Amino acid sequence: MLQDKTILVGITGSVAAYKAVDLIRRLRDAGATVRAIMTSSAERFITPLSVALACGEPALTSLFDQPFSHIDLPAKADVLVVAPATANILGKFANGIADDLLSTSYLVFRGPLVVAPAMNWRMYEHPAVKKNLATLLAQGASLVDPQRGTLACGEEGVGKMADVDAVIEGIRIALAPKDLAGERVLITAGPTREPIDPVRFLSNRSSGKMGYELARVARRRGAHVTLISGPTALPSPSGVTTVRVETALEMYTAVKERAGGATIAIMAAAVADFCASEQRTVKAEKQDMSLLQLDRTPDILAAIGALENKPFTVGFAAETGFRIDRAERKMVDKRADMMVFNDVLQEGSGFDTDTNVVTIISREDGGVLRKEHLPLMSKEAVASAIFDSILAHKG
Ligand code: PMT
Repeated sequence: MLQDKTILVGITGSVAAYKAVDLIRRLRDAGATVRAIMTSSAERFITPLSVALACGEPALTSLFDQPFSHIDLPAKADVLVVAPATANILGKFANGIADDLLSTSYLVFRGPLVVAPAMNWRMYEHPAVKKNLATLLAQGASLVDPQRGTLACGEEGVGKMADVDAVIEGIRIALAPKDLAGERVLITAGPTREPIDPVRFLSNRSSGKMGYELARVARRRGAHVTLISGPTALPSPSGVTTVRVETALEMYTAVKERAGGATIAIMAAAVADFCASEQRTVKAEKQDMSLLQLDRTPDILAAIGALENKPFTVGFAAETGFRIDRAERKMVDKRADMMVFNDVLQEGSGFDTDTNVVTIISREDGGVLRKEHLPLMSKEAVASAIFDSILAHKG
């Protein structure tokens, strides 16, 4: 998404200005061209040379460095991100004050603005700052919330600039088309864990990455997203309501409670098919394990497929081998509107990888199944392709 984009980074006077250097490098690594404007107070914290080395272009600091830079830089930019953003720059932007290169460029710029505030917690709570921020948000700016923590002054509070990952996610959100606005998307992700006794459980190798990418992409494209996640090591995607569950039964209950309000449901979780018939309260002896009895877990996808007013329902089929026939059968049996087949034995596909190789199976008019084979792609790109296909078929 950042490939070939031009990003104008504004850096203002905060101790967090050093984070801008890492931000610029990461944006360039993702394929973006970055130009930077520093205010005179930013120069007190980091040097234009550090910023220029990160950008590969001179960092501009004054309206008078190059004639018309306040016109040329914004005209070429796809997004303007101010990180860190002081109370002063928020006030200037909100009130149309143009007395330096950054504030003048802002008034010329017509694309999306992302701000990552950084300041003392009392300043951030001040009604004047809140009002200025509200003005900018009402004009369509995106806010990357500052974090709580120990601030430069030694005080504890909300005012630390968000970490660079969150700022990059803010930029991606600002750049994404909002073609899922108005959709309420319910997604499952990760494995489930079925306890046998207090120390053992049945589970599988799902990391949650596929489902979390689906959640992130849907949120970027404007959807309201609820993610029901089995146990994973992944942080909750920003702006997504994440409900953490452990067992298939807990996932089933969490999904059933929310399915009625969803317009799209995507079941990417690798739900355990079996659970122990009896959960022991003390650790089982080794010889007792041969007596382990299993029950079937509830089928969550089939339960959604059976709803009278079901959302557009998408299942995933993890198969070992090119068994698209099995995925098609699952799609029909579970009454899904779309199925995403992945052969988990294929290189770069399936469990705990950053990539996937999938075939999207959809229904044409007349009920004929259509298969779209996608090449090896990042899970983020797979998620985008799935939503493109959903929008094409949902009607
Ligand atoms: O999490 P990652 O490491 O990124 O890996 C991604 C993935 C391999 C887990 C993902 O791409 C995937 O294939 N998810 C579905 C795995 C699976 O359980 O497939 P299945 O063929 O067993 O199930 C078919 C469908 O029924 C799935 O949508 C599944 O969520 C659903 N199901 C299965 C059993 C059950 N009791 N309830 C269900 O809802």
